[in-house]
Amino acid sequence: MSVSKLARNLHGSEIIKIAGEINELKRQGQNIANLTIGDFDSNIYPIPAELKQDIVEAYAQNQTNYPPADGMLNLRESVSAFLKSRFDLDYNPGQILISGGSRPLIYSIFMAVVDPGDKVVFPAPSWNNNHYCDLTGAEAVIIQTTPENNFMPTAAELAPHLKGAALLALCSPLNPTGTMFSKKDLEEICDLVIAENKTRKAGEKPLYLMYDQIYSQLTFGKHEHYNPVSLRPELKDVTIFVDGSSKCFAATGVRVGWGFGPAEVVNHMKSIVGHMGAWAPKAEQVAMAKYLKHDDQVNAYLGNIKHNIQNSLTTLYNGFQQLKAEGFNVDSIEPMGAIYLTVKVDYAGKTTPDGTVLKTSADINFYLIKEAKVALVPFSAFGTGDDVNWFRVSVGASTLQEIEQLTPRIKAALAKLV
Ligand SMILES: Cc1ncc(COP(=O)(O)O)c(C=O)c1O
Repeated sequence: MSVSKLARNLHGSEIIKIAGEINELKRQGQNIANLTIGDFDSNIYPIPAELKQDIVEAYAQNQTNYPPADGMLNLRESVSAFLKSRFDLDYNPGQILISGGSRPLIYSIFMAVVDPGDKVVFPAPSWNNNHYCDLTGAEAVIIQTTPENNFMPTAAELAPHLKGAALLALCSPLNPTGTMFSKKDLEEICDLVIAENKTRKAGEKPLYLMYDQIYSQLTFGKHEHYNPVSLRPELKDVTIFVDGSSKCFAATGVRVGWGFGPAEVVNHMKSIVGHMGAWAPKAEQVAMAKYLKHDDQVNAYLGNIKHNIQNSLTTLYNGFQQLKAEGFNVDSIEPMGAIYLTVKVDYAGKTTPDGTVLKTSADINFYLIKEAKVALVPFSAFGTGDDVNWFRVSVGASTLQEIEQLTPRIKAALAKLV
């Protein structure tokens, strides 16, 4: 049966493919540590108790009909106050759009500012930008980053590609790396966007900046989150933020995201999200509006989740550093934010006990799944070449006890390679 060109050209998620392999091994009775999915096990990381209570209450009060397509005013007011108190950002409820998680925001940003054939610039590794380019017929301009810069893009790397582009898509803390922009690095990129827009004529589409800060509440230690508009207020007219509750409140299944930016663009995003019907469920909006107002509850929840996630990430980071010190060809980058750790397992060209030569990062990953019972995601799933032997580790679905058992298993598996 024939379908549209767009449908034919869409790629499935690499991560879901790896998850399929893991599920098959699990069905065969194997106990695999699944560090692949950017999600939480909600029995280990439940959503805030007060939020859960408020959602149940909202359903009991029959808050079950259509919400306004752009989100309930109450919630947009709460988000507005939240942005002011957390980032000192001034956005009124009219500049805020609520949607069913954050994905519809990203899709509607692309739909609102990108025409087919337009250039969209984004770094690799990064999350899903390629799919949104496919959905909008955009030309993906993918900038490969380096471990020396924590896999964050630099102004020098981006500069040659911004001429005439419609959108620069950035994310910090970054999925898949768990690393972040420093103030200076982000400032330099902001200045590039300002300079490019100065070259555009009146009435011409500017270079827009999509800034995905969905992990901004999950940062560790001395690492501070920066955003383009606080650093360079003149970027307010061209910056559209992606944010929401999915990650900071471990609420990936609750589906409440919020985006904000210049009203002119956000109004078009509202129409797009409205026609898609991709709004957040009403009861969840009612509850989120209430919950966000309680700074004390939010701070207590964030303090706890950050402590636990950071413990898991640091345990694995240290484990990999220990293996490196023992002479194994591995490495790890200090965790800064999100729920991810970046690790290197550089064993391409080595031979397994059954005589197979590991050629690509996917081969290395599959070997670790079978031999160490540990599943990671190669950066090739996020747009790098399959010769880049760096991987994402996601700790949201594992306990600290489970995480502590991983390094010895990886060590034993790597020791068998020749
Ligand atoms: C960087 C980033 N942005 C946005 C999202 C989308 O989140 P949501 O579940 O709210 O659609 C994700 C989810 O993994 C993400 O990693």
